[in-house]
Amino acid sequence: MIPAYTIASILETARIEEIVGEFVGLKRRGSNLIGLCPFHQEKTPSFTVSPAKGIFKCFGCGKAGDSAKFIMEHEHVSYPEALRYLARKYQIEIEEKEQTPEETAALNERERMFNLNTFAQQYFSSILFDSDEGRAIGLSYFKERDFREATIKKFQLGYSPDHRDAFSVHAKKNGYPEEILLKTGLSVGSVERLYDRFQGRVLFPIHNLTGKVLGFGGRILSSDKTKAKYLNSPESEIYLKSKTLYGIFFAKNAISKLDNCLLVEGYTDVISMHQAGIENVVASSGTSLTTDQIRLIRRYTNNITILYDGDKAGINASLRGTDMILEEGMNVRVLLFPEGDDPDSFVRKNRTSDVEAYILNNAKDFISFKTGLLLEESAHDPIKKAGLIKEIVHTISLIPEPIYRSVYVKECSRMLEVEEQTLMNELNKLLRQKFRSKTGTETPETAAEVTKQEAHVIAGPEAKSGYYQERELVKILLQYGRQELNHEVVNEDGFPDTYSETVAQFIVEDLKNDNLWFEHPTHLKIMQIFAQALDESVVPGEQQFISHAEPDISMLAIDLLTTPYELHNWERKRIFVKTEQDVLKLSITNNLFRYKEKIIDARIQDLGEKIKDADSFEEQFEVMVQKKKLDELRRKINDILGIVISK
Ligand code: CTP
Ligand code: MN
Repeated sequence: MIPAYTIASILETARIEEIVGEFVGLKRRGSNLIGLCPFHQEKTPSFTVSPAKGIFKCFGCGKAGDSAKFIMEHEHVSYPEALRYLARKYQIEIEEKEQTPEETAALNERERMFNLNTFAQQYFSSILFDSDEGRAIGLSYFKERDFREATIKKFQLGYSPDHRDAFSVHAKKNGYPEEILLKTGLSVGSVERLYDRFQGRVLFPIHNLTGKVLGFGGRILSSDKTKAKYLNSPESEIYLKSKTLYGIFFAKNAISKLDNCLLVEGYTDVISMHQAGIENVVASSGTSLTTDQIRLIRRYTNNITILYDGDKAGINASLRGTDMILEEGMNVRVLLFPEGDDPDSFVRKNRTSDVEAYILNNAKDFISFKTGLLLEESAHDPIKKAGLIKEIVHTISLIPEPIYRSVYVKECSRMLEVEEQTLMNELNKLLRQKFRSKTGTETPETAAEVTKQEAHVIAGPEAKSGYYQERELVKILLQYGRQELNHEVVNEDGFPDTYSETVAQFIVEDLKNDNLWFEHPTHLKIMQIFAQALDESVVPGEQQFISHAEPDISMLAIDLLTTPYELHNWERKRIFVKTEQDVLKLSITNNLFRYKEKIIDARIQDLGEKIKDADSFEEQFEVMVQKKKLDELRRKINDILGIVISK
């Protein structure tokens, strides 16, 4: 039991920005701080911390609360445990009365597993330093590897006696029950007969973000090839390997400060680099890199540098890692060490400043990396070169943001001496394929193939150049979709009449009439939701998108709704409008025309290329006719934009 006055003083002392800042990279925005929400996946920050109010709130997933609530949610602990965490951090003493057996039993299982791991870590460390066996075998091994005592202490390394159950017996004697010993994997066997998992191994505790011990990696000291070099704690309720990075607790501040994370393979790589003063290092240790691990890094930086062995396995792991990192919308560089070296050995041979310079000078962006790997063997072999180009374009297609894709297309075009447009076409082909296999629907074949007459604009593969216009239209749909627009018309008998429709109807019908469907997958999904709802005569509201099950939809919706569409100030352009509604109508029309303008431009350019490449005069002529029609249409739109809506 924590007395009420202590609770009050803990909560008064705790600074929300410091508590949250341990786990989330925060940037100042006005009087608040913002960052990427740790409770749901997002790429644009909607997680807000208000130091003045002492609260956090995520505008994406809705999680909110004070410092204690944050720790409870983030660390999955009970309220008292969260308070104890805060008290420790601010050195507030809690005069707690001894826990009764009932209270001990009530501690949830996760906490009991953590407690046991802490106990085990302290035991293994004391064996390492204070027992003859530990010093003679474990400590001397670490010393041989040039680990300094301070380093060994910092990483809480240890040694498990070469005895079948020394630790298990010791733990039981101290009141830790058999089931928990088995659950954490510190012991193996059965409740009746426990054995130590890590007999005779040196131990590397694996910490979570707050420095709690999740599990251990145990290295064998003999070179017995029949035994695994490393034995690791098994997966458990508290140790999820795919969500854990070795070293993250020690590295997170440096990662955030240097805005870069070095990714290595092993425990010893992390430790040696740290010892050399390079602290922004983590290892995926043992498992191949996972998306969850990448997202863990993304809390602190958008930049990852992969430092792997230069052997075949290392190269393949780097290639896979690169693709996964790019897919998460992050930047990746790759540095392979000369064969025979890993970061651990390299750091021990060289001075820190040289290591830093080496990393800086040799880390390559992914195009240079892939190109470098493959270009030599394909330099004089056009077929191989084509294969290489396809490979690289495939990787580019994984990048979620169109702007970055086009930057890389430029870079690739320059390095491989291939026309940008050729790469673009290849890229768009892949994007369409991917999109179709994702949605499982036959969506309008981004139209290059669909033949349409004059007024029906066709979206060519380059229609993605209409990205911003699409985004603006989606924004208007989300924000004003339900608003009614009144139109004044003249009916068949020549009398003035009015009719009304919603903004959503106006936009979606107009686009559908021209057989235009948004190109960007998320934009398209939103448009399809509107189109379908309109068929059933309803207009979806913004909440439906904000809390949509597909994260790309909900994230885009939150993103667009928090940067609302600003209606144009037409008066400044000397266009005088009567009502608010007229302003809205003009804005919509303006956006629709601009969107179509972009698409036609792309299509015209495409046809221009076709005319050059045509095989016969007939073909050329046909394309020219098409192009002429589009040119006319383009002029019409230009006129409209020019007259009604000045630029
Ligand atoms: N690993 C593992 N199980 C194994 C081998 C390796 O879990 N049987 C994991 C460990 O996390 C290890 C990492 O993969 O740290 C990289 O393996 P390796 O390069 O072989 O180990 P190092 O960390 O370099 O260890 P050392 O320098 O002591 O050989
Ligand atoms: Mn090694």
